[in-house]
Amino acid sequence: PESITVSELANRMAERAADVVKSLMKMGLMVSINEAIDADTAELVIEEFGHRTVRVSDADVEQVIDTVEDKEEDLQARPPIITIMGHVDHGKTSLLDRIRQANVVSGEAGGITQHIGAYQVKAESGAVLSFLDTPGHAAFTSMRARGANVTDIVVLVVAADDAVMPQTVEAINHAKAADVPMIVAINKIDKPAANPQKVRTDLLQHEVVVEEMGGDVQTVEVSAHTGQGIDTLLEAIALQSEILELTANPKRPAQGAVIEAKLDVGRGPVATVLVQNGTLKRGDIFVVGEQWGKVRALINDKGDRVDEAGPSVPVEVLGLNGTPEAGDVLNVVETEAQAREIAEYRENAAKDKRAAAGAAITLDQMLARA
Ligand code: GTP
Ligand code: MG
Repeated sequence: PESITVSELANRMAERAADVVKSLMKMGLMVSINEAIDADTAELVIEEFGHRTVRVSDADVEQVIDTVEDKEEDLQARPPIITIMGHVDHGKTSLLDRIRQANVVSGEAGGITQHIGAYQVKAESGAVLSFLDTPGHAAFTSMRARGANVTDIVVLVVAADDAVMPQTVEAINHAKAADVPMIVAINKIDKPAANPQKVRTDLLQHEVVVEEMGGDVQTVEVSAHTGQGIDTLLEAIALQSEILELTANPKRPAQGAVIEAKLDVGRGPVATVLVQNGTLKRGDIFVVGEQWGKVRALINDKGDRVDEAGPSVPVEVLGLNGTPEAGDVLNVVETEAQAREIAEYRENAAKDKRAAAGAAITLDQMLARA
């Protein structure tokens, strides 16, 4: 519906509901915290607070996402975030492993890389790239469904001896739906049966026009087994990233997305967060989904403790009061009271939703029985 309650709006802006009520009063509107206001009024309020509105879908103002407007001069280039997709057995995991093995940022030979669901590598040119270590469409779609659009570039893996298969098509559709550019990694080029040209013509049938055929989709022939073409792939990603001119503002409070979360026996709830904007620091107070916390420690993809993590950097976050879910958005807020308030509000809203769903089922069951 084209409306949003005052409290939900406040929640999404990470502002106090009372302040939103005050701002509405100034506009001559007497509205209580639990009352709904229309989308246009909501937008005025959002602007009043210096936030920017992005309506994910016009029909659904519940999806209003807000970001504090960043000043042009505060924006800096940030590394791209890459997700690998492709058909079963086409070599997604092998490719990720090969990339990580060869290029993990400051990964000394023999050094054990901690698995934290995402990692950064350095291309030969020096460009830093952040890979999501969760290959597959499920992760991509579930993150997107939860409002976390974390991917800048999709690397579509297609086995040269198998060409385009059903899940390749699915991946193409996901990337298109998310409006994320694609680079095609034609894998298993070492195999005698490899036929990269068939991959290119197959792709054409699915409206993916590669550069060799006059389009703008880059393809790179690689072998996860021999390592052939891996450096070229990384450079292709770096090039695509330059075209995208990805920027973020490292100076603002952090906003990020949960890649993975778990309850660790020794350390308590731990979430791997990919910082999307701002810089996450030790001591920061945050709300993440229905949880909140204060950053006790940050651990990077090498397993080292760090004091802060900037845009596109994946880190493990310790200091949560509960375990969030993958795809939950993390926002740094000013006070613990705010964080607690928002987390509680969300928890209650989720409970209400579940209760409503439960009631509907009961009603259905009653009707079915009658
Ligand atoms: P799922 O996770 O099951 O969807 O598969 P995947 O896409 O992650 O493929 P995976 O990396 O598990 O590789 C599937 C098989 O292909 C394995 O037996 C790999 O050893 C093999 N393979 C992957 N890359 C290459 C390659 O470049 N050359 C050759 N010859 N085999 C490869
Ligand atoms: Mg795999």
